[in-house]
Order: sequence, then structure tokens, then C-alpha cells
Amino acid sequence: MTSQILRDARKYEEEKERKIAREPRPEFHLSARVGWMNDPNGFSFYKGEYHLFYQYHPFSPYWGPMHWGHAVSSDLLHWEHLPAALAPDTDCDRDGCFSGNAVVLPDGRHLLMYTGVSKETQPDGSSRDLQTQCLAIGDGVDYQKYGENPVLDQRHLPEKGSKYDFRDPKLWRKGDGTYRCVVGNCTPEHDGQILLYSSPDGFHWKYEKILAANHERFGRMWECPDFFALDGKQILLVSPQDMMPQGFEYHNGNGTLCLIGSYDDKTDTFTEERDQAVDYGIDFYAPQTVLAPDGRRIMIGWMQNWDTCNLHAPERPWFGQMSIPRELSVKNGRLFQNPIRELETLRGEKVHYENVAFTDIMKLEGIRGRKIDMELTVRPGDEENLYRKFAVRFAQNDRYQTSVSFRPYESIIKVDRKHSGSRRAIIHQRRCLVKGEKNRIKIRIILDYFSAEVFVNDGEYALSMTFYTEPEAEGISFFADGQVVMDVVKYDLL
Ligand code: FRU
Repeated sequence: MTSQILRDARKYEEEKERKIAREPRPEFHLSARVGWMNDPNGFSFYKGEYHLFYQYHPFSPYWGPMHWGHAVSSDLLHWEHLPAALAPDTDCDRDGCFSGNAVVLPDGRHLLMYTGVSKETQPDGSSRDLQTQCLAIGDGVDYQKYGENPVLDQRHLPEKGSKYDFRDPKLWRKGDGTYRCVVGNCTPEHDGQILLYSSPDGFHWKYEKILAANHERFGRMWECPDFFALDGKQILLVSPQDMMPQGFEYHNGNGTLCLIGSYDDKTDTFTEERDQAVDYGIDFYAPQTVLAPDGRRIMIGWMQNWDTCNLHAPERPWFGQMSIPRELSVKNGRLFQNPIRELETLRGEKVHYENVAFTDIMKLEGIRGRKIDMELTVRPGDEENLYRKFAVRFAQNDRYQTSVSFRPYESIIKVDRKHSGSRRAIIHQRRCLVKGEKNRIKIRIILDYFSAEVFVNDGEYALSMTFYTEPEAEGISFFADGQVVMDVVKYDLL
């Protein structure tokens, strides 16, 4: 039975969507059907399609009582919206259905695990969000909340585990047919930790142990864990709140951390070896991954950040979009990410230049557009006398431009959106230290009208940002302080 609350949300989104059908949108990035979107949820492959759910408040372009929006795709680029899947309509989730994930059960049902939020009144009259883990079972369109919810609550916490910060389960089925899940949590001092649970059937869960603990290294509460094997290593992705910058890493406040290590499957023990930021741009948070049928590990993040996501106009009919799906790999102890290869199927006209030598400002015939896949290979024109700065400016007209620049002496790449039409003094720039050879840098830029995702040196670094420059600003130009030689390959995306 669908509740009245869910029926109302479904009716609202259908009517509102019709009214806003002509609004300009990202085309191959999933954006909110109507209203507000944050974290990706329930990213899974089910009945021959990818399912992506998301944190959703259909009724306004701001965060509110959380629903789960729902979309499906066969190539992760063309998305079809389905009716909202979950609404805050039971006792343990009456104040929100927070983030979670999905698995396919052996009997063919789709099992969602999410965080139920319900307000708990404190002795002083104030209230706090009590967080528990809940289940819903469905067929890919309609989901029924499990009668025994919640399946994990304050009885399943370690001694120093907060019942108010206990969220974002990620579950998976092991080779032996049993299930595990990891959940974000923190101590009473707000120090992040990831809890591990086990289940014989996906429905009955038992606390196992603290899988990983922050020990005050990376921010405070750890949100949205994901945990998987990749290229002989084990990866723990988490999104810590309130991180302190360390050198050129972790400048996002709330950002995504990648811990690379090893995993003993028999004892469920994770041993950390290295850490790095996942995205060095402005907008990327709370990613989830899916294992594609062909074995690729694919990640999608929320292409926004919590510090600036509330500064848009209240009349916007939709807000929030996902990143491009990214294929992950581990090379030389680092997490690499590249846009999924399916993107190549969208490639239309190609414009190609080789060995273009220039100083100062330059434009190239045929190089423009707001929906493009462009790769630049940049080298010094004079090896003895290195150029000081290279920049590519896009989403450009007389008033606006957004840019990616590289300074080889410092080996720093920078994204900058301050001239993208924003009227607020918010974060507009981010820098990333590029290790390795300075004399040749490869910069791939994916534009989809309102975002730029930059992949450096074949996916060793990624920097993502959104902007709302009018779509007519589609100019691209290049700048060199010194002598630069560059190859350009640009495709329009259809
Ligand atoms: C992360 C997050 C999650 C939570 C959700 C609520 O962005 O704070 O921890 O489940 O958003 O919408």
C-alpha cells in the first residue's frame, strides 16, 4: 500500500514537472526531477538497468523532509525519472528517509536500506534527530517499508556510538551469500567511525565491530561510507564533516575522503595504507559506487557542497545534480577516476588541433560550446624557459568566463568560477597540487551547461564545479603567460 504522503509527493512531482518542462537543465547528468536533490542513494543494477535514487525534497528547491527520488538508465547518461520511491511516512522515518543503499535479493526483489529519522524530545524541551536503519522491499518502481523496521537502532551501537549520528548504510552480499553493511557514526565527541554489521539474509542484522575510526584525523562525523575491492586493494570512501585542510588536500570542509588499504575477508578486517581527497574542486560529496555487470566499479557523487548549496534563488524549480559517473581504478597507490566510457557514444563533431604554439590570448576556430568533451595536452614552447601560466576559459562571453589554469613552476592546477554570474562572495576557486612531470599536463574537461568536471593526467586528479552562467555564453579561449604548445581534441556531445 502506498501511503497518502507518498501519493501526494508523486502527484506533486508529476504536475510540477509538466510546468517546468522547458527549463534549461544539465542533459546527461541526473538532476532533481523537481525541487531539491542531494546525495545519490541506492545506486544498483537491477532488472537490466541502473537504478539511482537520491535525497529529495520535491516541494521546494531547498532541503526539507527527505524523500527518495528515483531514476533509471541503461547507459548512466540518459536518465528516466520514476515516481518518488520513499516518503517520510512511518513512525521511525516520520522526519526523513535519509541516505542508504540497495542490493538485489536472490529471489529477485530489490532491497533498500536507508536511515529513518524521527525527532526525539530532550529533557530541556529541545529535540534531536534519532537515526535508525530501515528496510524497504520493491520491484524497481514501488517499495514497501519492512514491517519490522527499524532493523538497526541504538541497541546495536558500540559503547561510544551516537544514536543521533548513525546513518547512511551501504550494504553488500558476500561471496558466501551472507550480507554486510557499513554505517556512518561518531563518538559523543563527534569523532567519526564506521560500524560494521552482518546478516544471514539482509533482514536480520547484528553488530560486528568498528571497521574504521577517525582518531581525530579527518574532520568529525563520517557520513556516507562505501566499501569495496578494487584492483587488488580495498577502498573505503567516506564523507567527513568539518575537515581541516592538510596541505593541498581536504579543502572542502565537508568533502570526500578515500582510504586505500587491504581487507581480510575472513575476519572482516580493514587495514588502512593511504589517504587522499577524492575530488579537488568545489562541488562533490557523498558518492556511491555500483559494480557494473562488466566488472567496472562506477562512482557518482552529489555535485554540490553543503557550504554554498543554499544560496540560489527560491524560485528555482529544481536544484541539485549528480556528477558524471566515473570509472574507478587504483594505480600507483592512488585512486584514479575517469568519465565512464559510455560518454564516447554521445560524441558528435570532432575538432582537432595539434602543436598549436601560442603566447597571450588565443581562440581556435570551432572550439566553443557548453556540452562538450575536450582534452588539452599542454607543453612548454621552450623547455629552457618554462611558461608561467596556462589557462583555458569557457562558458565565456563579454561578461562571463569560468576557467582552469595551470602554473608549472608551482605545479598547481586551479578552477575558478568567480565570473560565472554569481552575486555572492562564496567559494569560487580551488587548487590542486599535480605531482609528476611538469612539462606535459593533460586536462580533460566535460561541460554539460551548468557544470565543469576536470580530469587531470588520465584521471589522477578530478576537480568538479557547478555554475549557472547563461547557456548562451559558450565561448572558449586560451591564455599563456610565456610560450605554450598545445594539442586540442574537442567533441560536441549530443
Ligand atoms: C550527506 C547527508 C547524509 C544524510 C543526508 C540527509 O550529505 O548529510 O549523512 O543521510 O545527507 O539528506
